Amino acid sequence: MASDLVRFSVAIPECLLDDFDAYAARRGTSTNRSEAIRDLMREKLVEEVVADPDAEVVGSITMVYDHHTPDLSHKLDNIQHHHLAQVVSTMHVHLDHHNCLEILAVRGTHATVRELADCLLGTKGVRHGKLVCTTIA
Ligand code: NI
Repeated sequence: MASDLVRFSVAIPECLLDDFDAYAARRGTSTNRSEAIRDLMREKLVEEVVADPDAEVVGSITMVYDHHTPDLSHKLDNIQHHHLAQVVSTMHVHLDHHNCLEILAVRGTHATVRELADCLLGTKGVRHGKLVCTTIA
């Protein structure tokens, strides 16, 4: 059930509001300034929650790697098998002759999910990757 909406007024410099409206327009929420502000508030609150190592989080780990790197696929598989409680699902995409994209849906405490991401993304041969966490709390 949605919460009741509350109106409040905020005093800010006009130039800051102009910049915010331009930001909201770039994000495609320019027709509703309230929604843009609500999005930013939620984003900051989620950031604060997931910053706690003990927070229960859900999220994704995205990584790109060259599967020709010796033993790399095997190492990444082993790491995931050692984190069964955190790995909910995986998707593997063969991007081209060399590169693979792997996306893991993860859950657990922020500390355990961060450790899994550090292990995977720190493995030699992983070219790029990122952990994104959010919360359903
Ligand atoms: Ni592949």
